[in-house]
Amino acid sequence: HATGALAGRHVLITSGPTHEPIDPVRYIANRSSGKQGHAIAAAAAAAGARVTLISGPVSLPDPAGVETIHVESAREMLNAVETALPADIAIFAAAVADWRVADAASDKLKKDGKALPPLSLVENPDILATVAHRKSGRPPLVVGFAAETQNVIDYARAKLARKGCDLIVANDVGGTGVMGGDANTVHLVTTSGVETWPTLPKGEVATRLIDHIAGLAPARQAE
Ligand code: C5P
Repeated sequence: HATGALAGRHVLITSGPTHEPIDPVRYIANRSSGKQGHAIAAAAAAAGARVTLISGPVSLPDPAGVETIHVESAREMLNAVETALPADIAIFAAAVADWRVADAASDKLKKDGKALPPLSLVENPDILATVAHRKSGRPPLVVGFAAETQNVIDYARAKLARKGCDLIVANDVGGTGVMGGDANTVHLVTTSGVETWPTLPKGEVATRLIDHIAGLAPARQAE
């Protein structure tokens, strides 16, 4: 029987980028190592939670003691998330591609020396907003991330409202080193205020975030 601050809770986490195919060998993606999301999954498991990690393509091992589901695209990620619900806590740390190619080619596009292939883009589903706005089966605590290069707090406040989540973990990715790096400086943004943490290793951010969330999460259980 699991013990710890999140014993008996089901925590769902998305992590990593998504890959949106252009053709069988090319894709569109955001930069994301998955380090922060995977560290949060490991920290939630260490706190006794049952953890489902829905991961885009990353070069990290599956965290020990975590059920990890591997997906490629945003639409696959949304499907996997909906299949994994209900959850007590959902944390959306994935860097989902905002767009996909409308008609991905089934064969490799060739350089024929003539016209360049046009890429027509369509918007991907917003996984966080979709889950946070669910009328039924919304996890009691929904956490989003916001990576910004400027106006970090203002944009995070706007995102909190637009996406319908309970907490935004905002970080400034304007400098070098955060993307793919081992340290992170985050601000916890809710409707009641902002809490800024010092720059910490991503593992430490994960542990503190799970402690913080365990203090917020309603003592309600999935199913
Ligand atoms: O809108 P933006 O991409 O800045 O929002 C970031 C937050 O929304 C992150 O929590 C990210 O995981 C989530 N997101 C999502 N699905 C998308 C885009 C973003 O879940 N299509």
